[in-house]
Amino acid sequence: MSLSHFYTTPISSSITSNNPLRSTSTKTTSSPSVHLSNRTHYISCEQNKQTNKESNANHNVIDRRNVLLGLGGLYGATGSAIGAPFTPPDLTKCHKATDDDVNPKEVDCCPPDYGKAKMVDFTPPSVNDPLRVRKAAHKYNPDDIAKFEAAIAKMKALPADHPWNYYQQATIHCTYCNGAFDQLNTKNLLQIHESWFFLPWHRYYVYFWEKILGKLIGDDTFAIPFWNWDTPKGMYMPPMYLNEKSPLFDDTRDKRHYTSVIDYKYTYKNSNPTDIDAVVTTNLAELDSIFKETLQLPALFMGKALRAGEKPTPAPGRCESLHNVAHMWAGPPDKPHWNMGNFHTAARDTLFFAHHGNVDRMWDIYSKFRGQKVEFRDPDWLDSSFIFYDENEQLVKCKVRNCLTPESLRYSYNPEPLAWTTIRRKYKKLRNEAKKRSEGDSLKLTPVSGFGSQPRPLTEPIRVLVQRPKTSRSKDEKADAVEILVIDGINVVGGSTARFDVYVTKSLEGLVGPDNGELAGSFVQIPKAHQKSSAGKDSSLELGISTLLEEIEADSEKELVVSLIPRNGDVIVSGVRIELFKVDDDEI
Ligand code: C2O
Repeated sequence: MSLSHFYTTPISSSITSNNPLRSTSTKTTSSPSVHLSNRTHYISCEQNKQTNKESNANHNVIDRRNVLLGLGGLYGATGSAIGAPFTPPDLTKCHKATDDDVNPKEVDCCPPDYGKAKMVDFTPPSVNDPLRVRKAAHKYNPDDIAKFEAAIAKMKALPADHPWNYYQQATIHCTYCNGAFDQLNTKNLLQIHESWFFLPWHRYYVYFWEKILGKLIGDDTFAIPFWNWDTPKGMYMPPMYLNEKSPLFDDTRDKRHYTSVIDYKYTYKNSNPTDIDAVVTTNLAELDSIFKETLQLPALFMGKALRAGEKPTPAPGRCESLHNVAHMWAGPPDKPHWNMGNFHTAARDTLFFAHHGNVDRMWDIYSKFRGQKVEFRDPDWLDSSFIFYDENEQLVKCKVRNCLTPESLRYSYNPEPLAWTTIRRKYKKLRNEAKKRSEGDSLKLTPVSGFGSQPRPLTEPIRVLVQRPKTSRSKDEKADAVEILVIDGINVVGGSTARFDVYVTKSLEGLVGPDNGELAGSFVQIPKAHQKSSAGKDSSLELGISTLLEEIEADSEKELVVSLIPRNGDVIVSGVRIELFKVDDDEI
């Protein structure tokens, strides 16, 4: 069977099976967590009971939302159960945006003439329109490159204030990421990153960019390339972007990376790895983990819910966190992190759109793995809308529900082998060899204790013992609820970028060896809107660990050792715990 077979075949396995006996109650009871600070965004047991009561009284709304959310926390965060779909902001009220990485921190990101333009509802393309097929950037032939360059050159040559102008198009990213608008009728900044809007908003953004380019060269089959960073040959900057004479070139990129492989563990320091095979294998193993650990709970992949009227609580999914690494890696290593390395200017680099082509392709693959079961059936997601200038210079209002598949927007991805789906064995061998090399060290056991009740700065690795709610769960129980490691109250102090990695290993009766264990996931932040204006909301990180526990044969362990390894930035963490979250397995 060819690998690309996976591309079109939904995975059917026990982890996605439905349990007809399961009731549609809310989140399973959480048992001992190491620490629940009062800063936490999660529902305490008391609040949870309360929500359950409300649920029963108003079954259609609240209970359904809780179930659909999968990850609780919303009601705890806002103190009320209000919420509604996101609507476009008041277009006449664009204000200064902010960027944590530059001085002064205020930046100008208002799109031209938004206030005066008339807005209409977006109509998805007709099924009779030609299908635009996006190809991997590293496989572009000279003709493909020439066509792409011609389109970009035309876009760059448009008058500066034309809504299709290359830099105007790039500014849209700043508008929506760095807070150039408030959410309608609130003082909360409009932010489409770090939540369940991340993937749909970028899908539309790239879609219109592609349509406009096609229009500029009079080719309605024109498709953009994707940066295939999930396959060994694609884990480099695609060569066509490195030609200094090309309109695709951007000289702010990290020059050390012109020919080096991308390392998903990159943190500005560890550049140019020499053991390429090991880096590629570890990258692929991470992708494998991302897909396996998130399949049951879309919020883990896509990001958590954000509703109208709410202050954004940064809670990106694993897809977005990994995507941040590629931004970091492609952009400059030093401050100010510019273009790819900073949300404010990211889309000025043409590579941004190839990167987001692949991010979007990851969503498509994820959705196909799930049998195209819609990720969130919550109308607060489906009916949320964004605005863009379309290929007719018309301002259109686009709903999430109209972009759920690439095909519905009449584009698709040329199938490529999914290299990570077969990497497990090779990765295990690599891990075992590394372990063997450090065998002598493994005798040096050190005691490990809980997190404590206070937020802690992550100035050195923190290794804590964390209790699990339940051990040795049956297949059905695992299908019903996902085991999640929660790191909450994450606060990045006075810095625009930050990263820490989270590892899990078995404890030997309260003792632990020098090996951190397996990577469960990472917190990765790149420069974005200046924190003060979003009122300093802490972030949270949720990582599925069910597959990981099977891998390290820790399913019967009562406690696990969790290591938080700081990589860069000043970070404060408030708590670490493990919880079970009910899976939404209702039929559509
Ligand atoms: Cu809007 Cu890659 O970020």
